[in-house]
Amino acid sequence: MSRIHEPLPGDDAPPRRTMTIMDAIYGRHAVQVFTGDDVTEHTVHALLYAAAQAPATASLPAPAFLVVQGRERLRALSGHIGRLYNAVESELTNLTSDSGFTLFHNAGTLIVVCIRQQTPLAVPEAWMAAENIMLAAAGMGLGSCLIGEAVAGLNDPRGRTLIGLPDSMVPVAIIALGKPTPGIDPTKRRPPDILNWLL
Ligand SMILES: Cc1cc2nc3c(=O)[nH]c(=O)nc-3n(C[C@H](O)[C@H](O)[C@H](O)COP(=O)(O)O)c2cc1C
Repeated sequence: MSRIHEPLPGDDAPPRRTMTIMDAIYGRHAVQVFTGDDVTEHTVHALLYAAAQAPATASLPAPAFLVVQGRERLRALSGHIGRLYNAVESELTNLTSDSGFTLFHNAGTLIVVCIRQQTPLAVPEAWMAAENIMLAAAGMGLGSCLIGEAVAGLNDPRGRTLIGLPDSMVPVAIIALGKPTPGIDPTKRRPPDILNWLL
């Protein structure tokens, strides 16, 4: 039996395994312009199951996930974070203006990867789960963007209340998700910096 969550009939996600893992690795890039299409709960569920396949140390509590859906809710959250930063930076200034810019790039879905204890290995585990989410999203034809700028805002008391984050949890990786707007050039990659190769 497959341990991977199967999309339900009628789900908007394309069938899985339409890409190889190398296609997903090479095809994933940060998406900062999303279409207005929603990502279904079922698709998010499949991504969370993909996250749960990431390497994990058995002795630690595994990363946990919080999902926020709805553009209006995310717009309000973005506005809260903009006010928190007191709009000192030019880009963040736009968060509290009417420019339409939001920290989450107007995505309709946010996944927050959280840890229970700030131990040295809990953080890399959370990031590996986050990478699985982003690669699985790429494999399903979705776009994603890490939102590092939102971590402090979601971790402050008001932010925590807005997203219903339990006291014991610490947000680590925040991923905006949506359907990518076509025609955006992928990021140019650098070749790997190979320091030495002992044969
Ligand atoms: C730790 C981390 C935090 C990031 N935070 C943000 C962010 O707050 N807002 C944003 O638009 N992009 C953010 N990004 C996405 C980067 O802008 C993006 O990864 C970078 O432009 C490279 O693009 P690529 O992911 O396609 O290689 C973040 C990326 C990383 C790795």
